[in-house]
Amino acid sequence: MSQVKPTILVTGGAGYIGSHAVLALKRTGYEVVVLDNLVYGHRDLVERVLQVELVVGDTNSRTLLESLFKTHPITAVMHFAAYAYVGESVSDPAKYYHNNVIGTLTLLEAMMAASIKKFVFSSTCATYGIPKTVPLTEDHPQHPINPYGNTKLMVERILSDFDAAYNFQSVCFRYFNAAGADPNGLLGEDHTPETHLIPLVLLTALGKRESVDIFGTDYPTPDGTCLRDYIHVSDLAAAHVLGLEYLLQGGKSDVFNLGNGSGFSVKQVIEAARAVTGREIKVNTCSRRPGDPPVLVGSSDKATRILGWHPQYPELNEIVSHAWKWHQQRHSDEKI
Ligand SMILES: NC(=O)c1ccc[n+]([C@@H]2O[C@H](COP(=O)([O-])OP(=O)(O)OC[C@H]3O[C@@H](n4cnc5c(N)ncnc54)[C@H](O)[C@@H]3O)[C@@H](O)[C@H]2O)c1
Repeated sequence: MSQVKPTILVTGGAGYIGSHAVLALKRTGYEVVVLDNLVYGHRDLVERVLQVELVVGDTNSRTLLESLFKTHPITAVMHFAAYAYVGESVSDPAKYYHNNVIGTLTLLEAMMAASIKKFVFSSTCATYGIPKTVPLTEDHPQHPINPYGNTKLMVERILSDFDAAYNFQSVCFRYFNAAGADPNGLLGEDHTPETHLIPLVLLTALGKRESVDIFGTDYPTPDGTCLRDYIHVSDLAAAHVLGLEYLLQGGKSDVFNLGNGSGFSVKQVIEAARAVTGREIKVNTCSRRPGDPPVLVGSSDKATRILGWHPQYPELNEIVSHAWKWHQQRHSDEKI
């Protein structure tokens, strides 16, 4: 008889990365409860596709969290819920500090009150700021250059202090650019507004957008456009299950980069999308954006060494073709 696995609370589980983590948890046999305020999430992905319980609510509500922890046997929390638009965080930092920092602190305090002390956190490579060396390793100095990155670094520090004071264990994952979609087409990326390169390129291929902007073609890179590290969302999801199991088996708090290890340029992404979709994709060359480093690539050797994580979908063509499958389906099924 198979052993019943613990119940995991996934905040932000109606969003892009969180929903893929829910799928990975379910496939590994965990019970899952999703908490999402649906500001950016999709109810139908949780209820119809993933078929897990959705609690609609906010991490800022201590009352809601207390009742959730009373009524569900939660063993650990995976925390994806946050706002993640870098530009908006610059123009409206209060919104970001409130949601990403105070919302997380409220959640952590409610967890402590319920004696739940295992936490997997979505941090970001944006906590590093402008890289001094690439590939970035976890010991690279952290100097974020925008409020979004500041909020994530603040939570990392809170978690480190909670461990020291309360024996509260966490795994922080610093992701590079999440990309792709569930290979079976069940889930994918659907942000409004969309700011990520691969969906913008594919929406252009679908005729939903006129053209793709390339910001800067004079960077010191092989083709003059910025190099970024795209990591398949299903690989991120798999890392979360490994991080959770590491904590459940008594692992100590730690921080891990999650990236592909190879950078792809903006032009390479557009070429890959042309090859995958067989469609013309109009581009519009613009000047550089402030704060965009030429190269942002991470080393995930530590996650491989300690968690045994090996990305299954490192190829750009595969990442783009999974995303394409999802986008085609998504735009022929507006019910989702
Ligand atoms: N997408 C990336 O490339 C990337 C890179 C690095 C880090 N991250 C981090 O990963 C996490 C998930 O990113 P994503 O791309 O899936 O974003 P997303 O917007 O698709 O998902 C976030 C979800 O959280 C929900 N949410 C936000 N604030 C909430 C709150 N206070 N209470 C309850 N629900 C709330 C939203 O409705 C949404 O469904 C975020 O924390 C983000 O900062 C993402």
